[in-house]
Amino acid sequence: MAEINFTYLPGDGIGPEVGAASIAVLKATASKFGHSLNIEEHLIGGAAIDAGLKPLPDESFESAKRTGAMLLGAVGGPKWDHLKGQDRPELGSLLPLRKNLNLYANIRPCKPYPALIDRAPLKRERLEGVDFIVMRELTGGIYFGDKGRDDQGAFDMCRYSEAEVRRIANKAFDLAMTRRKKVTSVDKSNVLETSRLWRETVIAVAADYPEVELEHLLIDAMTMHMLTRAQDFDVILTENMFGDILTDEASVLCGSMGVIPSASLSDGGMGMYEPIHGSAPDIAGQGKANPLAMILSAAWMLRLSFGLDAEADIIETAVSAALEQGQTTGDLGGNLSTSQVGEWIADYVQR
Ligand code: IPM
Ligand code: MG
Repeated sequence: MAEINFTYLPGDGIGPEVGAASIAVLKATASKFGHSLNIEEHLIGGAAIDAGLKPLPDESFESAKRTGAMLLGAVGGPKWDHLKGQDRPELGSLLPLRKNLNLYANIRPCKPYPALIDRAPLKRERLEGVDFIVMRELTGGIYFGDKGRDDQGAFDMCRYSEAEVRRIANKAFDLAMTRRKKVTSVDKSNVLETSRLWRETVIAVAADYPEVELEHLLIDAMTMHMLTRAQDFDVILTENMFGDILTDEASVLCGSMGVIPSASLSDGGMGMYEPIHGSAPDIAGQGKANPLAMILSAAWMLRLSFGLDAEADIIETAVSAALEQGQTTGDLGGNLSTSQVGEWIADYVQR
């Protein structure tokens, strides 16, 4: 019996709805396997701002630091768009959480579900067999450099240390060793100095992994290759901003953003788990939001933060079954509400 103690940060927009569905699934899983579940729920983002707090309230951060495992819905929305800099939900909560807990390794999968292939805009033959993971550096680069305005305009500084590149490259090669042993490193080394350092460092790290094939691509070319030969990729290693862009592109190959989880990991075993979709304010509060990405994020938390592989597997099997049997929300052609999808998966797990 395990103690599953984590920080739950539902956030804004559809976050609380998809979050509630994932909590129902976690409860069912814990009860089936006889684990105890201890959920520390806290405010983050716009919800915290509306409660008169900072976007990342101290108690939310302290809880995250203490439990080391976070399940996050989404933050931000038009309601808070007028705010500036650190007062904004994204800049004031998500980025400091990532940075201050050193969650530098962001993992986002791309493996289209057979049931969703026909929803993707690419031809079926370009999607069958696609199975890659993007390893995105999450705590450096242009996101975290000096930014500001001067009398001429504005600036955002992009900086990487060799150590920052080395550690994420190691993660990518370690992951590739457990898979098809190929790393594709994406940079812009024909223009950017940070990318030249990136490429040199990745080449140096690769020397420790003689079995892994290493390929380099420039980001502009990569956006095309992802559409024309996605089957060729295994682990895609890239810096923060390029990873942000590429993972949205990758989600299109999967037929829906609504089924893709993510993990952001530190060296000391901390992990934050969140769907890659945003807060979708246009459909918030209507019970329409697809909770599958959030449910899969909860499964990843069980596997990666608590070592509960069988528990994660059964949730993932349930999600595949829901897709195959059309037990989904309207965006995927079904007619269930957000909470009904959560109940269906919870029931499946308990069977
Ligand atoms: C993501 C998001 C965030 C990012 C935003 C909300 C700051 O787009 O996680 O991909 O750019 O990293
Ligand atoms: Mg993004």
